[in-house]
Amino acid sequence: MNLTDYERRMLDGEFGAARQKAIEFIVEYGTALNAPCLIPVSSVAGGLEYSAFTRDFYEKYGMDALFSEFNLNSSEELEIPVVSVPTATTISLTDVTQSEAIGVDRGIHDFCVAGEEYSKAKGMQCLSTCVPYQSLLIPTFGEHLAWMESSAVVAANSIFGARTNTESIESSGASSLSGRTPYWGLHCLENRYATHEFQINYEIEHDRDWGLLGYLIGEIAQENIPVVTGLKHRPTFDELKHFGAASAASGGVEIYHMPGFTPEAHTLGMALGENEPQETIHISKKDIESTYMRLNSQGESSDIDYIVLGCPHYSLNQIKELVRLLNGRAISASLEMWVYVPYTTKSMCDRQGYSQELKKAGVRLLADTCAVVGNLAPTNARKAATNSAKMAHYLPSVVDVQCFFGATEDCVEAAISGKWEGVF
Ligand code: F3S
Repeated sequence: MNLTDYERRMLDGEFGAARQKAIEFIVEYGTALNAPCLIPVSSVAGGLEYSAFTRDFYEKYGMDALFSEFNLNSSEELEIPVVSVPTATTISLTDVTQSEAIGVDRGIHDFCVAGEEYSKAKGMQCLSTCVPYQSLLIPTFGEHLAWMESSAVVAANSIFGARTNTESIESSGASSLSGRTPYWGLHCLENRYATHEFQINYEIEHDRDWGLLGYLIGEIAQENIPVVTGLKHRPTFDELKHFGAASAASGGVEIYHMPGFTPEAHTLGMALGENEPQETIHISKKDIESTYMRLNSQGESSDIDYIVLGCPHYSLNQIKELVRLLNGRAISASLEMWVYVPYTTKSMCDRQGYSQELKKAGVRLLADTCAVVGNLAPTNARKAATNSAKMAHYLPSVVDVQCFFGATEDCVEAAISGKWEGVF
């Protein structure tokens, strides 16, 4: 592998043992993938690994040992320096201001507090979100990144035209200290062209259908690269966010193109790199409807006890829309509605008065965490509803609740009545 003089000096230990270990890891990772060289990254989304297991490890050995073992793959405890490039933390296991109220174990709470303090001391940005691009870490076109979290990766590649593979805890940790990642995969232009064309033969009128469309395309495309044609309307930013998150959940989509709407391909030819698509798939309204039915095959009872919004983390606009839909009404006492946001959005909700309105309606706004990563649900929750196809995909297996999927309006009406009455 070709290394620059600076990279060789790092590899020789000139910038300390931790950065040496970090670049060793990145070189090994790149060698395994036949990467010709490394490239500098503008930012990293990663941070500590939060789980019950890593909590026990931290309690026994401390934070530097934890970072060494889980972020650098080093059994030797290293003194961890500050990060070399802007590094945002991804989702945590709790909102530390509400841990007790949402049933988070005291030990996990303390671990997350300690993790945040440690991350700050190491120069990381404690955004604790899967939407760093909607918080304070905004990628630009063509930038190389080392990001974790599938929904963040597909958004960075597709909506922003930045370049990142889906990194792991170890590789993102090593990139945060070395400032490098191997030049392979989606960092290379030739690997970013679409392989499969999806022609949409109906007019998407509902924001719900962007998640459904992403879910269906992900199922078919798997790890291939879709280009979506035939769209009649420009999707909003939040619709693109839902589309990508769903496609990454049901398949392994890391980048998609929508000619005219996403920045890397103004035309179908550009999206395909002037190649022929390997396959052209036609999507009709019926296909979307059957995806809806599959996500909603949840047995007889329509009684709901948990409404989950904010997957991916909600934006300020989505919160504003939620407040509009609630229209001053309180949710049913028979259920809980938890809405997940980044801390930055929560602060803006406080300023705009949305937090107070949601509280009055009985809605809980939670920052820094989510139902899936935090494994969070009200005690005894059995049946949930969400407007996120990604959440509907994961919630039943992670939190062991059944889950309906539908439009935000349907979720709000279910929150008021306690019953799911969503229809396609
Ligand atoms: Fe984000 Fe959690 Fe959904 S990480 S994309 S809110 S499952």
